[in-house]
Order: sequence, then structure tokens, then C-alpha cells
Amino acid sequence: MILVSGSGKLAKELTNLCSLSLPVTMLPRRAMDITNEYMVSDVIKKFMMTPDYPKYFVHTAALTKPMDVNDRNPIMSLDTNIVGTANVAKICSKYGIKFIYISTDFVYGGSELVDEESKVKPSNNYGWSKLGGECVAKLVKDSLILRCSLCDIPFRHKLAFDDVYRNSITHKDVADIILKVKDEVGIINVGGEYQSVYNFVSKHQSIEKASGSHIAPSLRLDTKKLKGLRVGV
Ligand SMILES: NC(=O)c1ccc[n+]([C@@H]2O[C@H](COP(=O)([O-])OP(=O)(O)OC[C@H]3O[C@@H](n4cnc5c(N)ncnc54)[C@H](OP(=O)(O)O)[C@@H]3O)[C@@H](O)[C@H]2O)c1
Repeated sequence: MILVSGSGKLAKELTNLCSLSLPVTMLPRRAMDITNEYMVSDVIKKFMMTPDYPKYFVHTAALTKPMDVNDRNPIMSLDTNIVGTANVAKICSKYGIKFIYISTDFVYGGSELVDEESKVKPSNNYGWSKLGGECVAKLVKDSLILRCSLCDIPFRHKLAFDDVYRNSITHKDVADIILKVKDEVGIINVGGEYQSVYNFVSKHQSIEKASGSHIAPSLRLDTKKLKGLRVGV
């Protein structure tokens, strides 16, 4: 069985891929609040006593949208994205459950081509808090960190930038990749084709274009490692 924290977009896409041979169980906040260490311990312990006990834990729960909620509430950001991640990671480590941490390309600072060895330099609290979660994951044996360039579809904004380039990828495609790379360890960049945000979004819905390079930087992910696993989109 695969346990998934949270009930957001990625958690739901993972649940959609649930099969008899690989059951996926989602843990919404009401079932397991990751900031409550005792609840996390209790919930996972109960699953460990079932015949189909969990072998993987995909940690998707996080304080995410809008991203600046992490700037406005830094302590909640710390509690959810760092301490909450530690609460889950510790119990996974205790029971030998493979810990898969969903991170973000926002841990990178620069706009050049970045691979998994490139320096990290988050530009906001969201990026720092997710990097804090990565530090937690690094301390857990055989964990997997996926630095995703997820883009919400439907798009959350009225306009999409045609001069900002990223390796945007849908939640559905990332869910599919997670199931294929779940036995890997270390850090893997996860993204799709490098293209303008407008180009990516307009493949899924009609949207107006705008210029935004003065607000949001372009970022090019090197996804050679992912492609080498032959699971990319
Ligand atoms: N979407 C992006 O642009 C993007 C890009 C790169 C990486 N990521 C990462 O990918 C992962 C999944 O993203 P997503 O788009 O699926 O996020 P999402 O739709 O915003 O879902 C986040 C989930 O986390 C849950 N959560 C928050 N605090 C919690 C707590 N204390 N206990 C339990 N659950 C809690 C939320 O529950 P409630 O609904 O109850 O608040 C929600 O179900 C996240 O870790 C995110 O950082 C996202």
C-alpha cells in the first residue's frame, strides 16, 4: 500500500491511479494533521498493523497556495512544511516505510539550466520551507526527493506569461511518474518540456497572454536524470 498525506490536487491524482496491485490511501488533514506528532504516529502505527501495511509514503501535504501565505504566516509555514514533514519522516523511518518527498523547483534560485547538483537559493519563504523539508528527507535512509515544476490546471490566474519559461507539468503526469520512480533514492528534477507558461497553459484551456518576466523568473530544469529512467512525459 502507498500512503499519501493531504487531499490536494496531487494526492487526488495519485488516488486515481490506485489499483488492486498497488492500493493508494489518501490521508486528508482530518484523518492525519501532519503538525500533530501524536496523531501522525498513531495513524501510521494503525496502518502498520494491517495485512497490506504501507511500503511507501508520498508526502504531498504542505502549505502551498497562494505561495505568499508562507511569507504572511512564517510560523505556520515552518510548522507545516518543516516540522510536519519531520513528524511524518520520523515515523516512516521508524517503520522502514519508503519516504517520498514532493519538493519544488522553487528551491533553485537562478534562471540558468539547473540539475540536481546545482546550488539551491530559494527566493521566498515557500521555497525555504520546502528546502527545510528536503533537509528532513535527506536524514531519512533511502528517501526520494522529487523537485517538481507542477503547474495547476485549471490555471489559477487570468493571464499566463508568454515570456516566462519553465518545465511545467500537470499533477496527473507527476502522479504517474511518482509510481514509476518510487524505488529510486536521492533527488530527481521532475518537469516537462521547457516552454513558456502561456504555451503550456493554452494546451489545456484558453487563456490570455501577458508579459511577466519582470515579476517571475524563467527557470530551466535539467531533467536528464528523469529521462534516463525512461519515465518522463
Ligand atoms: N502546485 C504547485 O504549483 C507545486 C509546485 C511544485 C511543488 N509542489 C508541491 O507538491 C505538493 C502537492 O501540491 P498540490 O498542488 O497537490 O497542493 P495542494 O492542492 O495545495 O494540496 C496541499 C494539501 O496539503 C494539505 N495540508 C496542509 N496542511 C496540512 C496539515 N497540517 N495536515 C494535513 N494536510 C495538510 C491541504 O489540506 P487542506 O485542504 O485541509 O488545507 C491540501 O490537501 C506540495 O508538497 C507542494 O509543495 C506544488
